Amino acid sequence: MWHFRLWDIQDVAVFLSITLYMCHLAGAISINSPQRSLTRSVQEDVFFSVDVACIGIPTIQWTFMSGAVSRTIGTWQPGVYTNITVDYSSRVQPYRNGSMGLSDLRLQDGGYYVITVTETTGNSKDAGHVLKVNEVLYEDLQYLSVSALALACLAGLLMLSMWLLDKAYRKIVAWRRRKQMPGKTNVKNKSVK
Ligand SMILES: *[C@@H]1O[C@H](CO)[C@@H](O)[C@H](O)[C@H]1NC(C)=O
Ligand SMILES: *[C@@H]1O[C@H](CO)[C@@H](O)[C@H](O)[C@H]1NC(C)=O
Repeated sequence: MWHFRLWDIQDVAVFLSITLYMCHLAGAISINSPQRSLTRSVQEDVFFSVDVACIGIPTIQWTFMSGAVSRTIGTWQPGVYTNITVDYSSRVQPYRNGSMGLSDLRLQDGGYYVITVTETTGNSKDAGHVLKVNEVLYEDLQYLSVSALALACLAGLLMLSMWLLDKAYRKIVAWRRRKQMPGKTNVKNKSVK
């Protein structure tokens, strides 16, 4: 009887440790981010929405990567501390669930944003996000070309009306001369004088 019981306990222990190990492998840390790829325009804001879950209080770190550049944006532990890099301090908004808001986007902000979640045990997991930042130059150019076209139309209209006015003036002058025909003598007299 005792023998059997011992085995039972051992079985349970093995089962438990296997379960724990599997949990560990599967990652007790979960990072849920609905949108991994975002596109914004210069001067707009972006919100990297994530929901982080793990055992204990997570340490959240956001890193920016683009080409050879890799820099830490900020590190925080919800309710414990928040450490945002000086370059980003005015533009970054940290959230308890790991989300990060970045405002007043610049062209150089385009790249990869990686969130790294570290548990108190030291385990960590990360998730990448892609941000594409578009220039607004194209719209400016379109606006410029439209105004140039409007100006050209206006100039054309002005030229046309001036030409019409000129024609009308000439016609009036000619008509007046014709009207004055009977008084040609007057003109003659005048010229004689
Ligand atoms: C994280 O929290 C922010 C603010 O409370 C919320 O707007 C956002 O939807 C949350 N993200 C997720 C994935 O739940
Ligand atoms: C904040 O982060 C910077 C760089 O990531 C680090 O050098 C500094 O020691 C940190 N400060 C605190 C109070 O953790």
